[in-house]
Amino acid sequence: MARMTEPVDIATAFDAPTEATMRAKPAGKWMRYDPDVLPVWVADMDFPPAEPIRRALHAHLDHGSYGYPPFGGTPGLIDALTERLATRFDWPVAREAVHPMAGIIPGLFLGTLATTGPGEQVVVQPPIYPPFFATIRQTQRVVLENPMVDDGDRYVMDLEQLRAAITPSTRALMFCNPHNPTGRVFSRAELEALAEVVLEHRLWVISDELHADLVFDGRHVPFASLSPEVAQRTITMYGPTKAFNLAGFKVGFLIAENPALLARVKEIAGYSQPGVNILGQIAALTAFREGDAWLDAALGYLRANRDHLLARLTAEAPAVRTYAPEGTYLVWLDFRATGLGDDPAAALLERGRVGLNAGGDYGAGGAGFARFNVATSRTILDAAIDRVVATVAAG
Ligand SMILES: Cc1ncc(COP(=O)(O)O)c(C=O)c1O
Repeated sequence: MARMTEPVDIATAFDAPTEATMRAKPAGKWMRYDPDVLPVWVADMDFPPAEPIRRALHAHLDHGSYGYPPFGGTPGLIDALTERLATRFDWPVAREAVHPMAGIIPGLFLGTLATTGPGEQVVVQPPIYPPFFATIRQTQRVVLENPMVDDGDRYVMDLEQLRAAITPSTRALMFCNPHNPTGRVFSRAELEALAEVVLEHRLWVISDELHADLVFDGRHVPFASLSPEVAQRTITMYGPTKAFNLAGFKVGFLIAENPALLARVKEIAGYSQPGVNILGQIAALTAFREGDAWLDAALGYLRANRDHLLARLTAEAPAVRTYAPEGTYLVWLDFRATGLGDDPAAALLERGRVGLNAGGDYGAGGAGFARFNVATSRTILDAAIDRVVATVAAG
C-alpha cells in the first residue's frame, strides 16, 4: 500500500508536553522517581502518538472485537513489515522469515537459546543496553566483552581486540545497531569488517536493530542484508516501539532467513511465549503504513533537541564530554572530568533532581558516564539541562 502522509502539527505533537501533563499520566518514565525529579532516563518519548495510530486503536476498541487476533496476524501486518524493510532499508525479506513477538527482549532470549549452549560465550560490545548481559547470564551462557573504543571523536568497534578475544567456545555475537547507549549508527564498511570476523569464526549474530528508524543522516543498513552468507547466520530484531513511541504495546519482530534457525526459534518459543496482543498488532500495522509523516517530523525535532543539548553542555558545562548520537534519541555523556564521581547519575538525581541512566549499568567503560534521553518537549529538555549544568557547576 502506498505510504500515506498527514501533516503533523509540531506544536501539538512535540512542544506540548509539560511537567504537569506528563505527571498526570500513568507512565513508568515519570513515576519512577519522586515528583520533584525530571526524568530523562528510560527510552520512551514524552510525545503523544501519531494521530493515525490513535485513531486506529480507537476504531478497534469501538467495534469491540476483543477475542484472539486473526491467526497469522492481523491482515496486512506481516506484509506491511516486509514492505517497510524492503523500501526503507533495502532489505527484501520473505514473510515466512518473520516471527512476531511480544517485545524485543524475548527475541534476545530466543536468539541466545537457539544459537548457543549453556557455558558457551556470547560477545557483547560495551557500553551496551543492560538486558544484553542479563539475557546471556540468565540463560547460563557466558558474557565475552569486546569493549568499544573512543577514537577521539566517537565510539568504534575494535575488531583486532575481538579476534584476539574469541575462543573455541565463542558461539555468538549480540549486536546493537543503532547502538544503545552511544547512538552510533555503524557504516556499511564497519558492518562489513564485522561480518568478516563473524564468517571467519562462524559466529551466530543476534542483531538488535530496534532503533533502525531513528537515524539522522543516511539510512540504516541491516546486518543481515550484507550478504546471503551473513543472512544465514543472523537473527534480527526490529519493531515500531521506539520510533513510534509504542513500548507499552509489547510488539516486535524476529527475522531469521535461515529456515532451520527460524524453526529452532519457533520450537523454543512454543507455547511459552505469548503472541502479540491485538492492540499491539494494530498499532504496529498503522505505524508502518501511516506513521511516516509523524516519524519524519519527530526525527527533525529530536535532531534539534540533540543539537541543543550538545550546544548547551559545551557552552555551560564544558567538563562534560559529549558524543553526538547519529541515531536514537539517547545521548551518552562522559562526566569523568567533573567532580561527580563514578556514578554521576546518582549525584545528578540526589543533588540536581534530574534522572539519567547510570553509565555503570552498561558494562565496561560505563563508570563516570550517564545516558540522557532528549525525546521530550524543548521546555522540559531545557529544565533538565539547567539541572545538569547547575549540579556540575556545584561540583
Ligand atoms: C536496543 C533495545 N533493545 C530492546 C529494547 C526493549 O524492547 P522491548 O521493550 O520491546 O522488549 C530497548 C528498549 O529501550 C532497546 O533500546
